[in-house]
Amino acid sequence: MAYPINRMRRLRRSGMLRKMVREVSVCVDDLVCPLFVTNGLDVKVQIPSMPGVYHYSIDLLVEEARKLSDLGIPAVLLFGLPASKDEVGSETYADDGIVQRAVRALKQALPELVVITDVCLCEYTSHGHCGVVREGGVANDATVELIARSALSHAQAGADMLAPSDMMDGRVLAIREMLDENDFEDTPIMAYSAKYASAFYGPFREAADCAPQFGDRSTYQMDPPNRREAMREIAMDIDEGADIVMVKPALSYLDIISDAKESFDVPVAAYNVSGEYSMVKLAAQRGFVDERRIVEEILVSIKRAGADIIITYSAKDFAMWRNEA
Ligand code: PBG
Repeated sequence: MAYPINRMRRLRRSGMLRKMVREVSVCVDDLVCPLFVTNGLDVKVQIPSMPGVYHYSIDLLVEEARKLSDLGIPAVLLFGLPASKDEVGSETYADDGIVQRAVRALKQALPELVVITDVCLCEYTSHGHCGVVREGGVANDATVELIARSALSHAQAGADMLAPSDMMDGRVLAIREMLDENDFEDTPIMAYSAKYASAFYGPFREAADCAPQFGDRSTYQMDPPNRREAMREIAMDIDEGADIVMVKPALSYLDIISDAKESFDVPVAAYNVSGEYSMVKLAAQRGFVDERRIVEEILVSIKRAGADIIITYSAKDFAMWRNEA
């Protein structure tokens, strides 16, 4: 198997040859685009920490989703900015909440588009934690009840898929039971299963106005050094009824994506999060990196690691580049 009989460069000699032996490629079908919806009319405000990402009012959200869908992007992941917040995040499970209204508008205008909703309390609570605060900590079981109510209310509004991101124990089972009892047994769950307590969410906290007012999320999100524990989280979520499991963030956790793909036969999603996006965007704006090449390299690395689905703020850019090519 040695040189000079073997020469690895033979198959790298031209673009066509490289294309023939390419092991993986990303396609637009793999992508999910996150979108932020806010109250008002005719609102499109750029998020300062995430150039190219906006808060949209429902009317413009529908227009943006139409563009994404026309570009071939199959799904969006919705985050809501409520009109008001309280201790228990009431708007997350209100029938006329911002996400519920947005889902109805999207499904009416674009019935084919897969509308996934992020199910969590943190954008809706005054303290910014992903659950109910009791005695200075986040109470698991009380939170799970509200998460399940919230998921049901999103499903009733017409959401095609629910994505719980709170990291409470038992929430997938609670959501599954709540959906099944209410005739939504066909609505799938994409669980944020291995979600780490990461500094890469920094820009998102500004985008979704959900930075915790005290402490941090390390009592419920995973500790970054832990690898085997992620497999336990994922196995539990699958047992509880998760249809798709997610690893988040993506780039510093490619080993976890790879392990998940090896160990389980459900689809694996990876979330290329806000910090990963903003670092690239800002460096590209300064001219330090070639944005298109670096985004394509990042997405293909996430795919190569084993992700079937990639949630990314670069979805629209990527799809536009593909349509140009
Ligand atoms: C809500 C949630 C967060 C993200 C997705 N859902 C923030 C957090 O957990 O603090 C992060 C997304 C991103 O950084 O792009 N729980």
